[in-house]
Amino acid sequence: MHSTLELDENQMRAMVTIALDRVMDHLRGLSTAPISNTSRGGEIAKSLLEPIPEESLPFETLIGRIFDDIIPATVNTASPGYCAYIPSGGIFHAAVAEFVAKAVNRYVGYWFMAPAVAQLEWTVIRWFCTMMGYGDDSGGVFTSGASMANLTAMIAARTTRLPEDSFQQGIIYITSQTHFSIAKAAGLAGFPSHCLRIIDVDSEFRMDPRALNEAIAADRIRTPTRTPFMVVGTAGTTNTGAVDPLDDIALIASRENLWFHVDGAYGAFFMLVDEAAQRMRGIERADSISLDPHKGLCLPYGTGALVTKRRASLERAFGARADYVPQMNDVENEIDFCGLSTELSRDWRGLRIWLPIKMHGIGPFRDNIAEKLALTRDALDAIRALPNIEIVATPQLTIFAFRLNPNDRSEADLDHLNRVFLNAILRRQRIMLSATTLDGRFVIRMALLSFRTHADRIHDGIIDIRDAAAEVLETTVHEATG
Ligand SMILES: Cc1ncc(COP(=O)(O)O)c(C=O)c1O
Repeated sequence: MHSTLELDENQMRAMVTIALDRVMDHLRGLSTAPISNTSRGGEIAKSLLEPIPEESLPFETLIGRIFDDIIPATVNTASPGYCAYIPSGGIFHAAVAEFVAKAVNRYVGYWFMAPAVAQLEWTVIRWFCTMMGYGDDSGGVFTSGASMANLTAMIAARTTRLPEDSFQQGIIYITSQTHFSIAKAAGLAGFPSHCLRIIDVDSEFRMDPRALNEAIAADRIRTPTRTPFMVVGTAGTTNTGAVDPLDDIALIASRENLWFHVDGAYGAFFMLVDEAAQRMRGIERADSISLDPHKGLCLPYGTGALVTKRRASLERAFGARADYVPQMNDVENEIDFCGLSTELSRDWRGLRIWLPIKMHGIGPFRDNIAEKLALTRDALDAIRALPNIEIVATPQLTIFAFRLNPNDRSEADLDHLNRVFLNAILRRQRIMLSATTLDGRFVIRMALLSFRTHADRIHDGIIDIRDAAAEVLETTVHEATG
């Protein structure tokens, strides 16, 4: 019997043509589409709550629904104006690579199943290791993102540095600026919250190495049964892009025998650009580094990576045995990825990174980061020059934070004022910014990273920021006097 699921060539070509036409229309309209259009999103979401269908629907109808209803009712994360949270990107090459990878559906978990498929992915891992300054013993895996990379690192650190039966005595050092995925990873790896120590940051939101030293010393004296075993530094925090003093932390970690993990989800690929790489000095001494190609290399969401100084640490943590498959990572120069991470069956993630880098070389990726560094400095200068704007965090990479501060309001009023200010910026629909809290103050962040974001859009965004500030101040003065 012929399966309906086995499409004939004409059907397949027709589907791809229709999908491609819709994608092209979408991409053509990307820069003029609203930056955020979620008001109908809930209603559309509700309309998707339905029982499993028995009847069939034409592809055209479904793709129409996807592009006409579902996709537009979103935050436009692929827009040139998306400067919120940490921008991603979504280069088209990756979509084509995904199409190929999914259509051929090869198995990347075990080397023997597809040696060159696994090697291609390992080659990209080797590129990343070299970029971070690692040597031949290093290795790594692709993950869905930095959260999974951080969890993988946490488990590798635990397995390498702590006894199996009493690892909950371990202590992990982080800061208030460490991404929440680290605390989550600690919990998932079995560490109760009392295992986390928050180390002070300096005025630029970077870990204070002296405070780290003191905390470790205090823990060793006060609780000799506990084991300081891991410190997490960040190469580019989410809040302000702060880069912890990695070299100093590496020194302490080595002296104290701690596993040194660097969360470089946002910042690690700044290693491509010399001026930013200076800030990262010491990253090469880390035992493990999380890095997100879906941030710094503008890949689509779902593309993260973890690299470790020693591949063997991943093998120790994630190796396992089963009777129906060969021993993992047993043959020299053959990589069984399933023995380096929690995942067994997974997609061929490496292809979507390998293809664009092979097509263009690494140059355009480096150029994008260099452009964003320069653009950030220009944006900062322009925003600083606006009346009543206070810069709260200057950029160390391509993120900075500011707020509206007319110097005549209480802190509570300022928080309210800035919430209204952010909404007034977003209402103009040309630039998407997000907010955070720094030292208890509500502040607005600008984060530049996407390959689509250039000076023209930032210029428009700054006009919107200026106009929104004037509007908000006028309205709130009227409120106060009226
Ligand atoms: C510094 C940092 N670490 C970890 C993460 C989590 O990454 P992901 O969303 O890829 O899981 C992020 C996300 O923005 C981040 O900025």
